[in-house]
Amino acid sequence: MRIAIYPGSFDPVTEGHLDIVRRALEIFDRVIVAVARPHQKSTLFSVEERIRMIQKAVSGRKGVRVESFSGLLVDYARSKKAAAIIRGLRAVSDFEYEFQMALMNRHLSRKSRGHLETVYLMPDEKYTYLSSTMVKEVARLGGDVGNFVPSFIAAELKKKFGR
Ligand code: PNS
Repeated sequence: MRIAIYPGSFDPVTEGHLDIVRRALEIFDRVIVAVARPHQKSTLFSVEERIRMIQKAVSGRKGVRVESFSGLLVDYARSKKAAAIIRGLRAVSDFEYEFQMALMNRHLSRKSRGHLETVYLMPDEKYTYLSSTMVKEVARLGGDVGNFVPSFIAAELKKKFGR
């Protein structure tokens, strides 16, 4: 059983994230979508709301679980016996942060059995410029985010922003 952890803030989950989940399931037997409990970042949606939205968005998809985690990602990944960490890579602008994170996680995992590698997947090109931050900004200002998030999340965003 090859397990992958797909960690992130998912505030909220977008079609780009869901595209990565689908791709990861082609490679791994199980994908655990791991929602980070707030540490430095303040989020629009609570952890519980974010988990519920992802669960609804992936409902019926075999092999996906949604959980939250706190503390070091490598410790959580080890506790789940994960073979790899999954991250999406959209554009060159993502690269520096992702490179830093992958090498830090590899370093941190050295003390436990073997390195924990990060596998990068590219979403469909139509999601290249999509981010949760952009979706929130557009929704806050009354724009249509229907192409970028499932429709029930577009409705939740409207509600959050009192529209
Ligand atoms: O969606 P994001 O905000 O880019 O996700 C970032 C996340 C949650 C994957 C990252 O901040 C993380 O792994 N946090 C857990 C703490 C940790 O392990 N930090 C050291 C490695 S960067």
